[in-house]
Amino acid sequence: MSPETTSRSVSGRPGWRVDTATSWSPLHGSLFCATYLDLLPCSLFYQTTLLLQGEGLLFCVSATDFIAAAERLWLNGNVSSTFGASIIMTLIQPFVTEVNFESGAFTPRRGVYQRRLSDMAGMYADRDEAARILAGEGDRLIYEVHTVELPVEEGQIPHCTTRILPGTIGGECHMTKGHYHARREQGEVYFGLSGRGMLLLQTADGNASELEMVAGSAAYVPPFWAHRTVNIGAEDFVFFSIWEARAGHDYGTIERDGFRKLVMLRDGEPAVVDNPKYG
Ligand SMILES: [Fe+2]
Repeated sequence: MSPETTSRSVSGRPGWRVDTATSWSPLHGSLFCATYLDLLPCSLFYQTTLLLQGEGLLFCVSATDFIAAAERLWLNGNVSSTFGASIIMTLIQPFVTEVNFESGAFTPRRGVYQRRLSDMAGMYADRDEAARILAGEGDRLIYEVHTVELPVEEGQIPHCTTRILPGTIGGECHMTKGHYHARREQGEVYFGLSGRGMLLLQTADGNASELEMVAGSAAYVPPFWAHRTVNIGAEDFVFFSIWEARAGHDYGTIERDGFRKLVMLRDGEPAVVDNPKYG
């Protein structure tokens, strides 16, 4: 099936034309397609890689990046200025998901993954206690994520629920692994559904913040802030997250350095303390 397209000129770039699909039956589930119409043969790969035969490789993460990369080729004199580009984005059908506020479960059931103690034992300050729990009690469930996965494409908005079980490891509250966004300039919104939690945030240049969350709390994670959620209550803490698809996840930095702050449970109440092992 051929896409129906609309065309527009690229501002200030005579000879450029961008055709944007208005309807498309995705044949490959590809994130987007881009084609030089007049000049070059091209091969489309899954995900976001485009190979322009004879002109080298372009690795594109979005339609915008494709245009920018093609533009650089043109400005460098590597290709003619008299070609057009056709950019086709997968048309997603609208859908609705029912969310259980207590469990975070989605209906219909979508992607689910779990994080157990063995997945993150080294992230707790008291690693000896984590090892003792693993050897004795076993590999306890720390948190579970129900997710709506979408193409990693500019404009798509994935969302998920996270349920963190109550409990502590050496007095430190159960938590998520935490991450920066791979694209640091991308933010996120969290919305509390049930239970009681805390959102830990920090920036690479020394800022730190902690926000308490309950059912009904809408927390904003601004660009450049790493974020980790913690269950500070006696029940499951469940929240909903919404972000831009291209934000990506950088877990590695947190796995290496940890967070500046720890959330301990003392006499049933949370206490935010400095992490002596940070960095
Ligand atoms: Fe995030």
